[in-house]
Amino acid sequence: MDDITIKKLISAAKNASKNSYSPYSNFKVGTALLTKSGKIFQGTNVENASFPAGICAERVAVFGAISKGIKDFEALAIYAEGKKFPFPCGICRQVIAEFCSNLPIIIAKNETDFVIKNISDLLPSVFKFNSKK
Ligand code: THU
Repeated sequence: MDDITIKKLISAAKNASKNSYSPYSNFKVGTALLTKSGKIFQGTNVENASFPAGICAERVAVFGAISKGIKDFEALAIYAEGKKFPFPCGICRQVIAEFCSNLPIIIAKNETDFVIKNISDLLPSVFKFNSKK
């Protein structure tokens, strides 16, 4: 991935994090999912007074793309300002792996401080449903 794409995705994820609805955790997460066709789907975490009803920013971006009929992804950026890198949770890793066996994920704690990990490294030995049909 070239530096311009990385910068663009981090910036889009940062912008999305501004819309985070996270009054309970105060942890503002934004995501930017780049499709193979060059579109960007943004996402943010949306919390709820009934805690389990909330959803992570990664899944909002992935489900937004899937809802538009798009399943081919080039890269994902996750942005949350803080001291630690905002690695995706296990559920989101599983959701990403449903659609991508190989997806670079930019994990940014500010606009210049980031790491890039592939979903194949973040979730090895992935569970796949084994239909008997
Ligand atoms: N969160 C995400 O948006 N993505 C993750 O991968 C981990 C956690 C959100 C969920 C919740 O709103 C807040 O961060 C604290 O867990």
